[in-house]
Amino acid sequence: MVVRRATLAAIVTPFLLAPSMPAQDLPDGPGKELLMNVCTACHTINRIVEKKITKDEWNDIVDRMASKGARATDQEFDTIVNYLVKNFGKE
Ligand code: HEC
Repeated sequence: MVVRRATLAAIVTPFLLAPSMPAQDLPDGPGKELLMNVCTACHTINRIVEKKITKDEWNDIVDRMASKGARATDQEFDTIVNYLVKNFGKE
């Protein structure tokens, strides 16, 4: 019994520690609210925060999302890109 429980823990724990990030755990900063409002209309935030990409790549993606129908002003998209680059950017 004890052994079995330990085995189960060994199987389950890696999944619990896997980096999936609920929206409320996003790093604080300007753009967080916008990202949560604008960018979760069509897919989860995990789709976004799993990435580590450069500013150019974030710009491209946000442009692409805008052309798909993401709704925000140019200034709001700028704020979102800056937030993404700061927290999910590649050095
Ligand atoms: C109108 C619906 C919609 C909204 C709003 C939206 N997306 Fe997306 N997003 C999609 C679709 C559809 C895909 C999958 C197809 C694709 O990758 O182009 C996707 C895919 C992605 C991907 C994965 C792309 C890849 O190349 O792996 C990222 C990152 C992403 N979105 C970020 C964002 C961000 C950031 C925002 C907010 C600015 C946003 N999305 C808002 C529809 C949307």
